[in-house]
Amino acid sequence: FTAELDASDIEKGTYPHYMLKEIDEQPAVMRNIITAYQGDSGKIELDQDIREAVKNADRLYIIACGTSFHAGLVGKQLLEGIAKVPTEVHIASEFSYNMPLLSEKPLFIFISQSGETADSRSVLVQVKKLGYPTITLTNVQGSTLSREADHTLLLHAGPEIAVASTKAYTAQIAVLTLLAVDVATTKDLHHDFDVIHELSLVAQAMEVLVDQKELMEHLAHNYFETVRNAFYIGRGIDYYVCMEAALKLKEISYIQAEGFAGGELKHGTIALIEEGTPVIAIATQSHVNGSIRSNLKEVAARGANTCIISMESTAEDDDQIILPEVHEYLTPLVAAVPVQLLAYYAALQRDCDVDKPRNLAKSVTVE
Ligand code: AGP
Repeated sequence: FTAELDASDIEKGTYPHYMLKEIDEQPAVMRNIITAYQGDSGKIELDQDIREAVKNADRLYIIACGTSFHAGLVGKQLLEGIAKVPTEVHIASEFSYNMPLLSEKPLFIFISQSGETADSRSVLVQVKKLGYPTITLTNVQGSTLSREADHTLLLHAGPEIAVASTKAYTAQIAVLTLLAVDVATTKDLHHDFDVIHELSLVAQAMEVLVDQKELMEHLAHNYFETVRNAFYIGRGIDYYVCMEAALKLKEISYIQAEGFAGGELKHGTIALIEEGTPVIAIATQSHVNGSIRSNLKEVAARGANTCIISMESTAEDDDQIILPEVHEYLTPLVAAVPVQLLAYYAALQRDCDVDKPRNLAKSVTVE
C-alpha cells in the first residue's frame, strides 16, 4: 500500500503519525513533480526566467538550514555534474560570518520547505540589498521567501506536517535534478540523462522500499533500541545522505548520531567505536563501495554493530538493506527512505513523540 498524494488532505487518515504518512507519500510526490514540470512537448520545461537566471550566472550559492541544507549538498553534485555550473552550499546562519568572496555574476538559491525560516530570510534580505538575483525553492507558495525572492520553484510535495522533514527533502533533490537537467539542455551540454524516465524509476524504487517496514522496524530494534550513539558513514554523495540520516535519527529518537565521511573516521573519530556502537554504511556508488566496505570492516573489528545500505548484496555477515537500482546521481532519493524509516521506528521504540519532538518547531522563525 502506498499513500496517494492529496494536497487538500492534512489528516493522518489511518496512519499513526504524519511522519509515516509523509514517508509513504514520496513515490506520489516524485510523480507529482514530473507532472507539474512537464510541458506540452512532454519534456521538462522550467520557467523561462529561471532558466535565464541560471544560464546568466557564473556561480550558484545555495543557502539553507537543516534538512534543506543537506538537500542543497546533493544539489551541488547535480548542478556541477550535469549542468557544469560551479555551486557552493552554505548554512544560512553562518553565511554572514563566513561570507565567501562572491563571483562576478552570482545567483542565490534559497531552499526552504516552509519558506519562513528566519536564518535563510536574513541572507535573502542581505543579498537583495546587494542587488543579486534570487530564487526560492519552497513547498509553500506565497511564503515569505517565495514572495521576497525574484523567482520561485515549487516542490509540489503537498503539506508536510511532521516536524521531521521527509518528503520535502526528496522533493527538493528531485526539483534540483530538474533544474540541473534543464540548464544542461539550454546550455547545449551533451547528456544522456532522461530525467522523466529516471525519476519514474525512483518512484518505483521508493514504492519497493516503503513496503519494507517490517525489516526497518526489526533493524531499528537491533541497532537503536538502547544505544546512546550511532554513526552513518559514506563517501561522496552518500556522505551527504549520511548527514541527513543522522539528523533524522537525532531529532526524533534523541540518539546522538553523526553522519561521517568514511575516509575521515581513522583520523580520530574511530576512537568512539566500542562494543555495540551502531555503524550504518550507505554505499551506492560503485567507485567508492570497496573503500566504504573496508571502513565497515575496520569498525566491526572494534566491536561495532554494522549494517550496509547498498544496491549490491554482500557475502559478509553485516545486515543489509538492498536498494533497487536507480541512476547514480539519484541514489540519495532512494537511500533516504530506509534511513527515514529507521529513525521513525527507533523513535517509536524509545517512546518518543515522533511528530512533535522536544524543543523543535516545524518552522524556525527566529534567528
Ligand atoms: C528537518 O527534519 C528539520 N526539522 C529542520 O532541519 C528543517 O529542515 C530546517 O529547520 C529548515 O526548514 P525549512 O526547510 O522550512 O527552511
